[in-house]
Amino acid sequence: MSNMKGVFSTLGASNHSNTIREQNDYYATDPIAAELLLELETFNPNIWECACGAGHLSKVLEKHGYNVTSSDLIYRGYGEGGVDFLKQNVCFDGDIITNPPYKYAKEFVEHAIESVPEGNKVAMFLRLLFLESQSRRDLFDRYPPKTIYVASKRINCAHGGDFEACQGSAQAYAWFIWERGYQGSTIVKWFN
Ligand SMILES: C[S@@+](CC[C@H](N)C(=O)[O-])C[C@H]1O[C@@H](n2cnc3c(N)ncnc32)[C@H](O)[C@@H]1O
Repeated sequence: MSNMKGVFSTLGASNHSNTIREQNDYYATDPIAAELLLELETFNPNIWECACGAGHLSKVLEKHGYNVTSSDLIYRGYGEGGVDFLKQNVCFDGDIITNPPYKYAKEFVEHAIESVPEGNKVAMFLRLLFLESQSRRDLFDRYPPKTIYVASKRINCAHGGDFEACQGSAQAYAWFIWERGYQGSTIVKWFN
């Protein structure tokens, strides 16, 4: 199922309210993160950006020729809105790439891995401190990432998509790459 537009379980247009918008902290990723990712890894021609925001990652992937399905819980002017990724029960015939909502990052990682076929990839742009904490230990035991690319130079994620107001990131980020079925050691590399 490479093109899933129109087949999502949507929540309806009423979800475009300010209340819900505020409940789902939106940080847009500097598109350079996607440009750099594509220098590090190759992906299936079909990609699902399942928390696409305003499309900062999707647009770069499309520019590089990927067939990108973009969805988000909230419609932010890009892709299909009203789609709760955690409630989609599909096997997506491709790879999944996103910067997920931090609050549900663990759930997104698990659900993404379980939504792609064996051997397919999940790439998540996550805070480096996602590596720590007891609550995520079981995730890493069950699903060890294949590679983690740590950003040596910090990459901005702008609150509300406002890169002007957000000068210099306080957070260290990394691209975490999972390959469904991989059970080996995790390799750590550096980029940027
Ligand atoms: C950190 S922002 C990243 C946006 C975009 N991926 C980017 O990199 O610019 C996380 C996004 O996740 C969306 N989101 C939150 N909960 C979601 C859910 N359950 N299903 C789908 N999207 C969700 C938010 O609306 C927000 O746009």
